[in-house]
Amino acid sequence: MHTFTLAGRTVRRIGYGTMQLAGPKAMGEPADPERAKAAVRAAVDAGVRLIDTSGYYGPEVANRLLAEALRPYPEDLLIATKVGARRSPDGGFVADAAPEAVKAAVRENLAQLGVERLPLVHARFMPDSTVPWADTVGALAELRDEGLLEHVGISNVTLELLDQARAVAPIASVENEYHVGHTGGRDVLDATTAAGLPYLAFRPLGNGALAGENSPLAKQARQLGVSAATLALAWLLDLAPNVAVIPGTSNPAHLADLVAARELALPSDVRAALDEA
Ligand SMILES: NC(=O)c1ccc[n+]([C@@H]2O[C@H](COP(=O)([O-])OP(=O)(O)OC[C@H]3O[C@@H](n4cnc5c(N)ncnc54)[C@H](OP(=O)(O)O)[C@@H]3O)[C@@H](O)[C@H]2O)c1
Repeated sequence: MHTFTLAGRTVRRIGYGTMQLAGPKAMGEPADPERAKAAVRAAVDAGVRLIDTSGYYGPEVANRLLAEALRPYPEDLLIATKVGARRSPDGGFVADAAPEAVKAAVRENLAQLGVERLPLVHARFMPDSTVPWADTVGALAELRDEGLLEHVGISNVTLELLDQARAVAPIASVENEYHVGHTGGRDVLDATTAAGLPYLAFRPLGNGALAGENSPLAKQARQLGVSAATLALAWLLDLAPNVAVIPGTSNPAHLADLVAARELALPSDVRAALDEA
């Protein structure tokens, strides 16, 4: 199955993440903004209709480039954004999860993307947050009731945080890190699969470590006649029908490799070897 239902839409399970559109470490402007915009357009041209983004990439830069590249947006495009964190001066991310901060971030995303309503907003859990998780999720539920967003998702969550969030509001998706090199949190993935809840696997190429010639998957990929990036994504898509991937690239030439994953039927021996690894 190439598609699944997310936030009331049927979308292909290969999406695109905008973090690589901003400068190094998602801070500041990219070296070549036109190339970055060409990468987003290449994603849409290749059939991608799920784009994951955030106002804190850049900050603002990724959302601005996304809007410049795609507006007017294709009608069937689903843009998912994230709130709950902000950039720290040293380039990291820190919690910004108080209800008023979360609400302000949603409004900033609306303005940056140039839309009146966001289809899906993820509350990103930050371990350094001092705000009760239920309050952060509750703030998004309030904005949903006000019509500023349609669906509430959560990100970087444990099973306990998933349960807590579901007690506050209907949760439309979970966005967690998962890839061949990071299989912690399998309990959360399994719980979403059991519940038929969409699961967006972020950083699906291990931030690039699983792609390219030096990838630990390179040998198996060569044997299958595909790139390591394609194999890394195909392994994820093969995990369960509720799993989507949101790889990032600033290189338009890399898109073909990414969307090729939907055509790759994973042989069971390769699946077993990667599971083992
Ligand atoms: N919810 C969260 O807390 C969270 C955290 C992190 C990320 N995310 C989301 O996940 C998305 C993806 O994560 P990510 O961008 O950090 O990591 P990623 O998708 O795992 O890897 C991106 C890296 O892979 C390289 N790459 C992509 N396609 C390639 C190809 N075909 N061949 C060789 N190299 C390739 C890119 O370089 P090039 O640019 O040169 O292609 C880039 O360095 C983000 O954009 C963001 O939307 C969410």
